[in-house]
Amino acid sequence: MIAPSLLSADFSNLARDIDMINRSEADWLHLDVMDGVFVPNISFGFPVLEHVARLCTKPLDVHLMIVQPEKFIREVKALGAMMMNVHYEACTHLNRVIYEIHEAGMKAGVTLNPSTPVSLLVDVIRDVDMVLLMTVNPGFGGQKFIEHSIDKVRELRRLIDETGSHALIEVDGGVNMETGRRLVDAGADVLVAGSTVFKAADQVAMIHQLKSL
Ligand code: DX5
Ligand code: ZN
Repeated sequence: MIAPSLLSADFSNLARDIDMINRSEADWLHLDVMDGVFVPNISFGFPVLEHVARLCTKPLDVHLMIVQPEKFIREVKALGAMMMNVHYEACTHLNRVIYEIHEAGMKAGVTLNPSTPVSLLVDVIRDVDMVLLMTVNPGFGGQKFIEHSIDKVRELRRLIDETGSHALIEVDGGVNMETGRRLVDAGADVLVAGSTVFKAADQVAMIHQLKSL
């Protein structure tokens, strides 16, 4: 599956870019919320996302790069989001946060920074619907893919298969046709792609190509 990331869209033409997503074969729209605390950048917040959600016909995959993400479960739910991803590193009581996201009627994803080991997921892997592996350090689009991520995807695939978890594997950062191919081969289910999609001359065609991986 392919989830284009709105972070690389043209913010002065959001409606046009969302219309492109709607017309494309994209499976989900990936939305990166930042707070300038958990990550060294600020992107967009709920007032903007309300408009995005109104225009977008694809399921919304919300990636919260913020401290205390549990404070915003209601706001994410109000967007009509399908998936709420919280960072492992941002949740002291991850088990409770996953429960609360499910209680709100959304799918729950747990996200790992590049330096956080897959092995730490052993006690939550059966409870989550998705694991989002960061393949760059979160905070910015257009960064270079971290090679070690391929091994992490393989390790996560093994953990999921061994435990009988139903979790999907999503990867985020530096995804292009080349890294995407290797990530899919390693076991990734969902590719997030920001600059690869939005910098392409033909964005709809690029989404089609990524889907063929
Ligand atoms: C980075 C975000 C990503 C970002 C990826 O912190 O989580 O979703 O948009 O951008 P690219 O695909 O350009 O690396
Ligand atoms: Zn993201």
